[in-house]
Amino acid sequence: MSVHKKAKRVTTQVLLDMKSRGERISMLTSYDYSMAKIVDQAGIDIILVGDSASNVMAGHETTLPITLDQMIYHAASVIRAAERSLVVVDLPFGSYQGNSRQALDSAIRIMKESGGHAVKMEGGEEIAESITRVLSAGIPVMGHLGLTPQSIYKFGTYVVRAKEGEEAEQLKKDAILLEKLGCFSIVLEKIPANLAAEVAKSVSIPVIGIGAGGDVDGQVLVAHDLFGITQEFSPRFLRRYADLSSIMNDAVKQYITDVKSGDFPNEEESY
Ligand code: KIV
Repeated sequence: MSVHKKAKRVTTQVLLDMKSRGERISMLTSYDYSMAKIVDQAGIDIILVGDSASNVMAGHETTLPITLDQMIYHAASVIRAAERSLVVVDLPFGSYQGNSRQALDSAIRIMKESGGHAVKMEGGEEIAESITRVLSAGIPVMGHLGLTPQSIYKFGTYVVRAKEGEEAEQLKKDAILLEKLGCFSIVLEKIPANLAAEVAKSVSIPVIGIGAGGDVDGQVLVAHDLFGITQEFSPRFLRRYADLSSIMNDAVKQYITDVKSGDFPNEEESY
């Protein structure tokens, strides 16, 4: 008899405990069942169903076009695979900014229709009311500061944010505010490492960095970038752990050759 012992789920409390123990948190994106299965079984702590699906899955130039329905579809697929990881789902552009009632409705749809465990929202002070309203329904919120891609048309460029005094000061204030509001964690994207380290020290909730240096509580990457499936995107902060794009390209070429030559399928592969 085989006993399948289910892995214990990572919770927001587990993440807080990890920060207090000084144990680093690992986080990766997934947008579909098969990828989430690999990432979850490898032991990742958090799976982010990022709105980067807009770029990676749909080929859009920005994260702005992805809809709430599309995010729910991606998140539901990931949830069916994730046995251990905490699954955080991005609230997409236009589903929460400037209208806290709409923010609550969007977050409730994500939780009910996908089964996700938490939502992520980009911004600080300017979305405080929306964050508070979502939290009031018992929905855990992860904040996201620094280079927030949903504001790309405000920034005009994907360069490092908060290098200047005023923007850095605002970011520090926003991080403290997010903790005060009740967020369980904050993503800091593409900001100077020393600023990120200062923020991580100033709050007791875990700070997860992407392009924010090593002195934070955890790291997040887009899984397709880490696997080397995406090729065009090569920022300095990205470490590629595999070159799946060329492995897959070779496999497809070999398949084409075998089909054309009649080598595939052979007798053992036929009924
Ligand atoms: O959408 C996403 O993948 C993200 C990460 C880059 C943090 O927000």
